[in-house]
Amino acid sequence: MPRYSSVVSPWTYYLRRRASKQQLPLPPGPKGWPILGNALDMPLENMAQGYAKWGKELNSDIVCATALGKVVVVLNSVDKALDLLDQRSAKYSSRLGFDYPFALLPYGDRWKERRRMFVQHFRPADTSIIYPQAREFVRRFLVQLKEMPEGFFDVTRGTMGAFIMSLAYGFPIKPRGDPHLDLAEATIKMVGEIITPGANFIDVLPILKYLPTWAPGTSNNRKAKEYSYMSERCRSAPFNEALSKLGSDEARPSFVSVALSALGDINDEATAYKKEVVKDTAAMFYMAGTDTIIGSILSWVWALLKNPGVQARVHAELDEVLKGRMPDFEDQEKLPYLMATLMESTRWAPPVPIGVPHMNTEDDVYGDYFIPKDSIIVANLWQKDYPNGATYDPSRFFTPDRKIDQRVRDPFTVVFGFGRRQAYLLLLPTSVA
Ligand code: HEM
Repeated sequence: MPRYSSVVSPWTYYLRRRASKQQLPLPPGPKGWPILGNALDMPLENMAQGYAKWGKELNSDIVCATALGKVVVVLNSVDKALDLLDQRSAKYSSRLGFDYPFALLPYGDRWKERRRMFVQHFRPADTSIIYPQAREFVRRFLVQLKEMPEGFFDVTRGTMGAFIMSLAYGFPIKPRGDPHLDLAEATIKMVGEIITPGANFIDVLPILKYLPTWAPGTSNNRKAKEYSYMSERCRSAPFNEALSKLGSDEARPSFVSVALSALGDINDEATAYKKEVVKDTAAMFYMAGTDTIIGSILSWVWALLKNPGVQARVHAELDEVLKGRMPDFEDQEKLPYLMATLMESTRWAPPVPIGVPHMNTEDDVYGDYFIPKDSIIVANLWQKDYPNGATYDPSRFFTPDRKIDQRVRDPFTVVFGFGRRQAYLLLLPTSVA
């Protein structure tokens, strides 16, 4: 629980002194506790709402907390997030630092080579790899849903998981109880727990690394060990299976098959290294792609269940345009109301409301505030940057002449993150949803 007393921890004191040397304060924040700073105040669940509450209490859309010497800056408005993470992306594109999933790598060559490889294979302008598979899996999804509406969650998870695995590795998986899916899900859950700002004491107090794993405060140490075992399996198991199936009837073109064939048959050290990069990058697909797609489908369905009037209107539009046939990509522009409902559910319940925290690699000054190097920067999309933001209302994106209103900010432009770390596949999620 944040406190506003006059007790200031030595860390906070040190950081505030460093800030005052710049003659500027850190952004406002709760006062915190001796030694620990705000470590005990950090919201570890419902983080987006917790950070938004701080903003309200402190009457500022940029707030800051300190946890054992680490500064966490929360940007509680999209404009602030764009100012720092987009406009100043040269300084604000790093991460706390983790092993291979490139979404978690600090800014630098390892991140660049993986991201480049990803982008090369999935340029938004080139739909030849994604569209045929998206079409097939969405159709399969719709048929299964019709047959088994009561299994909605399992069908969604199974089909979208299979779709992403197919894009990455090119082999089919079991719709339920697939070991690759189960392992990947458990690993993602653990990543979420480890990267939560304030949960990761090891990063802010490295001495904890050397304490035995049963010692208090080292639970993340234990988690980090477990994580490293699981993430290695997550990275190797599907890759090895894809290798063993290359060229078989079961295999279809995938990120792995295309990337490996671009490397050719050369057997040198440089090629062996690049194969490792392919392996790392392929593992990113499932980790980054599945929960997010499932999350956006669930928010949309939830919104329609809570708003039967909107649901009826979507239904009517679909009936009018499709007349009972399956949808295809070119139908998208004939379904503006459906698009408005997707935009609104993405705004109203964003699948990744606080994104993945960035980190700045240089000291910076923003407005009247000093932001020290290596701060953790969180962009909180839970802020309702739109009038009546708590209400689900697709008509905010829809003009009376049945078009998407171009004057209103499209949530898809911010929901995939910011600056150089933005999720690249803008086309994919909107198409699938
Ligand atoms: C509704 C769907 C999705 C949403 C809302 C979403 C959202 C996000 C967000 C907020 C980030 C953090 C960006 C930042 O640091 O500013 C991110 C990163 C990333 N996402 Fe997505 N994502 C979605 C789907 C996907 C899919 C389908 C894939 C791939 C198959 C994907 C791949 C990635 C990758 C590779 C990164 C890391 C980028 C980097 O650190 O360089 N995402 N995503």
